[in-house]
Amino acid sequence: MDVVIVKNYIEMSKHAAELVGECIRSHEDPVLGLATGGTPIGMYQLLVRQYREGLLSFKNVKTFNLDEYIGLDPAHSKSYHRYMNEHLFSHVDILRDQTFIPNGMASNLQKECRQYEKLLKRVGPPDLQILGIGENGHIGFNEPGSDFDGDTHVIRLADSTREANARYFRSPDEVPTHAITMGVKSILRSKKIVLLASGEKKANAVKRLLDGETDPAFPASALCNHKDVTLIVDNAAMSK
Ligand code: GLP
Repeated sequence: MDVVIVKNYIEMSKHAAELVGECIRSHEDPVLGLATGGTPIGMYQLLVRQYREGLLSFKNVKTFNLDEYIGLDPAHSKSYHRYMNEHLFSHVDILRDQTFIPNGMASNLQKECRQYEKLLKRVGPPDLQILGIGENGHIGFNEPGSDFDGDTHVIRLADSTREANARYFRSPDEVPTHAITMGVKSILRSKKIVLLASGEKKANAVKRLLDGETDPAFPASALCNHKDVTLIVDNAAMSK
């Protein structure tokens, strides 16, 4: 794993946006794997800026998101569909049919998972997958104990994840209990992975990741089995 230590959130976002820009410019039909959460927002802002300055086009880009909450309509203010529209898609030249996000409202969730995985295999795998990390080491919504051999699936969110994500909702009770997530195996199929970590709250997770021991109780450790992972981490997240 390559580790790039940067001063702060802004520098992390800049570095990540550069890698995404490079990936888009160097592929004819780039496929990106995208993440949500607070961590990549700065990166998306910089990508939108590059687009507005004419430095980047998403015309030929296809995107796959890692996950979506179950039971939230795409228009719901906290759905990851809405997040992606607000932070990236509605600001750049990408069409709706170039972007894929699991449908958390599907009447048959198992079927939705199978179809998403199929699509991911057919259109993907992503040339570059962006990841954040949960305080408990989750990637996507692969919670501790997730099968490293897992495809896209339905997951019950850990209490600690619901607590950590409560800050995005009006009250903790509003945080959905389940999600659809790409599996660890689906994520590891990406050609290159860039993992972002910023802030003191991520310091324990980063320390455990860099200890290098592969353990399903700490899902991010599966990344040690991939040959092209770059961790971009700021000083605060590196503090332990
Ligand atoms: C969320 C998402 C992950 C994200 C992680 C960290 O719940 N499912 O994809 O990377 O948890 O979130 P944040 O960046 O807000 O700390």
